[in-house]
Amino acid sequence: MRILVLNGPNLKRLDLRDKNVYGEFDYPSLERFVLEAGKSEGFEIDMRQSDDEATIIGWLHEAADKKTPVIINPAAFTHYSYSIRDAVMMLKAPVIEVHLSNPLSREEFRHTSVVSGVVNGTIAGFGANSYRLALIAMRALITNLTK
Ligand code: DQA
Repeated sequence: MRILVLNGPNLKRLDLRDKNVYGEFDYPSLERFVLEAGKSEGFEIDMRQSDDEATIIGWLHEAADKKTPVIINPAAFTHYSYSIRDAVMMLKAPVIEVHLSNPLSREEFRHTSVVSGVVNGTIAGFGANSYRLALIAMRALITNLTK
């Protein structure tokens, strides 16, 4: 089964972001890690990144049409993009929000997620392992749905 893993703005430049917050991973290493973790859960991973809200919304529409499960790190869009929230609401298969950092332990503007209310669950604060934990949770969700 294919899982779409979507990443929002600035995540492709992970190596240039605050290492105290995001750790040592660069985006290609994160992608390799997620692909490997996906394989362990029996998933084929299609991981994408965009700095552009419209592109991410297009990918969410595609996932809704194909009933593809989604793991999404909306990055800064998490905190204010009602259009990404509305697109997430249209998804037909499970959807999990992930964050590398724990936004609740950071600046106040990061304490609000406009996406959290329309996903199955959120995993944050475990670096690259947030994605791995999300894949484990996705496997459990899908197995329960198909039982
Ligand atoms: C992030 C947290 C967001 O607040 C931030 O804007 C990001 C990354 C994370 O993965 O920790 O770009 O989503």
